[in-house]
Amino acid sequence: MDQAFKLRAFAGRNSAEPHRPRRGMTGPRVVAVTSGKGGVGKTSLAVNLGLTLARRGQRVLLFDADLGLANIEVMLGITPPYTLYEFLYGNKTIEEVIYAGPGGLQVVSGGSGVNELAHLDSTQRRRILELLPFLRARTDFVLVDTGAGISKNVLGFVSAAEEILLVITPEPTSLTDAYSLLKVLAKFKVHSEARLVVNRARDEQEACRAAQKLQVVCGRFLDFNLGFLGAILEDGVVGQGVKEQQPFVLSKPSSTAAGNLIRIADGLIEGRDRSPQAADMFIDRLLRLFR
Ligand SMILES: Nc1ncnc2c1ncn2[C@@H]1O[C@H](COP(=O)(O)OP(=O)(O)OP(=O)(O)O)[C@@H](O)[C@H]1O
Ligand SMILES: [Mg+2]
Repeated sequence: MDQAFKLRAFAGRNSAEPHRPRRGMTGPRVVAVTSGKGGVGKTSLAVNLGLTLARRGQRVLLFDADLGLANIEVMLGITPPYTLYEFLYGNKTIEEVIYAGPGGLQVVSGGSGVNELAHLDSTQRRRILELLPFLRARTDFVLVDTGAGISKNVLGFVSAAEEILLVITPEPTSLTDAYSLLKVLAKFKVHSEARLVVNRARDEQEACRAAQKLQVVCGRFLDFNLGFLGAILEDGVVGQGVKEQQPFVLSKPSSTAAGNLIRIADGLIEGRDRSPQAADMFIDRLLRLFR
């Protein structure tokens, strides 16, 4: 109820946005990678998409917003010394908290700092606002890897991000859980559109069929526009990359999955112009939603 209330207060997205950037200023696109069901491939997508975007010349900040699991770190085989927590409370600068990952990827671990978002005093709220100049000046994409489902944390980040990549697999349970998430987003009008990535499909046809099923029910029962960004086929290099802590787009650049990621990255880059307000809205909404 608590979260529902806040989402409702936030509904319509027409409320005054107090941190509007000055005219002419550009900022990053802020994209949350999320799913209804767990384990469908969000983190694999976020990491490998981030690397592929970086290879396309985009400055990418990958933010691990999945509480405490440090999944991104494990997949990249890195150990950033600090997390968002140290930025909020430890007098670490944003530069110290951002870890220079492989391929030019910038990585921030939320760590226990994600939990702290609900308890910020005015000093830490100011710290969060200090992120803005950095995001505007140094990033083209902020990719937020969230947990699965409709918990407060997930909904907070999904609502705050301007764009949503919804990951599903062709499994019926993945579709029904994705629908439940979309229903919440539509009901509270926090988003009216998202784009689908169908992961672990046997072939393109299976991916398209899964996407269409969800698009049809969305069109029929929800006022929600669900686009299809692309498919990542079932490919052994994904699991192998996770085990070896070497993202497959780096270790197996000519694999099927890496080719799929290139199409997805290009589709994402071309799909939409950068919005000068996305970063400001992201920070503003995080501060309001987690209050
Ligand atoms: N396209 C694929 N082909 C084969 N295996 C895959 C593919 N995508 C993901 N996997 C496997 O699924 C596992 C789970 O992926 P991942 O950790 O990215 O999911 P997740 O959605 O982030 O999970 P969680 O909800 O726990 O955060 C990976 O370790 C990998 O082995
Ligand atoms: Mg994950």
